[in-house]
Amino acid sequence: MKKAICRNWFVPQGLPLTEMDKRILSFQNRGEIVPTRALIKTPEQIEGIRRSGVINTGVLDLVEREIHAGMTTAEIDRLVYDYTTSHGAIPAPLGYEGYPKSVCTSINEVVCHGIPSEDEVLEEGDIVNVDVSTILDGFYSDASRMFIIGQTTPEKEKLVRVARECLEVGIKAAKPWGFVGDIGKAIARHAHKNGFSVVRDLCGHGVGLEFHEEPEVEHWNTRRNGMLLVPGMVFTIEPMINMGTWEVFIDEEDGWTVVTEDELPSAQWEHTFVMTEHGLEILTH
Ligand code: MF3
Ligand code: CO
Repeated sequence: MKKAICRNWFVPQGLPLTEMDKRILSFQNRGEIVPTRALIKTPEQIEGIRRSGVINTGVLDLVEREIHAGMTTAEIDRLVYDYTTSHGAIPAPLGYEGYPKSVCTSINEVVCHGIPSEDEVLEEGDIVNVDVSTILDGFYSDASRMFIIGQTTPEKEKLVRVARECLEVGIKAAKPWGFVGDIGKAIARHAHKNGFSVVRDLCGHGVGLEFHEEPEVEHWNTRRNGMLLVPGMVFTIEPMINMGTWEVFIDEEDGWTVVTEDELPSAQWEHTFVMTEHGLEILTH
């Protein structure tokens, strides 16, 4: 059977082909998945996303200064809401597909999408992911960091470090005119080398004009190329690295909280990037 070619790149009739058109069309004609025009951001849009990212980083820096044992995750939620709104922005999670809070706080075996609560108190030895997403003037940014509460075990410390390294090797693997699939390949190799696994059910994503856009950025080795990476594309990389099995489930009660199947810990770091002619530039520094 002939492989169906997915045609995303159209050139308006009557316009001359630019160098970029020609380059993208050559990949498309070979059967590769290429972006749509909407995924290539204009310089003005990139500036908007960058400004959103400055506030997003301000939120994470504030959380980094304030987080401590004995604090509830609801207190983190209030810090995020107050900082974001007082800077003229909106916390993107709040009300997103019914999500009830302004931030995700995911402790130990919680992989992601943990909902802040008055009843949840941070304890010495916990490892916590705080995932912050901001809308400013309609532009979205998205980043998360891990925090270690006091002293933790060497294994959990290693997990947090390796998860961060996985984000770094993913960044280095992402090349202009390469493919999204290069990212997951590199991340999976680094995670496995360290004895850890990579979550498959959740991925990074295009971001900027909406919270979640194409492409899906898988962090494991799907053995597919995935979408062509073209300068101007904006997306996240956010590998979730598990100490045990890669398998996860969603808490039935709240419909959000993602937990490891074996209840061993998980760690995640995330940034928003723009692809440039020279590689990825971080927009959430
Ligand atoms: N911030 C998450 C991400 O990295 C998305 C959270 S959706 C929410 O894509 F509704 F839970 F906030
Ligand atoms: Co994200």
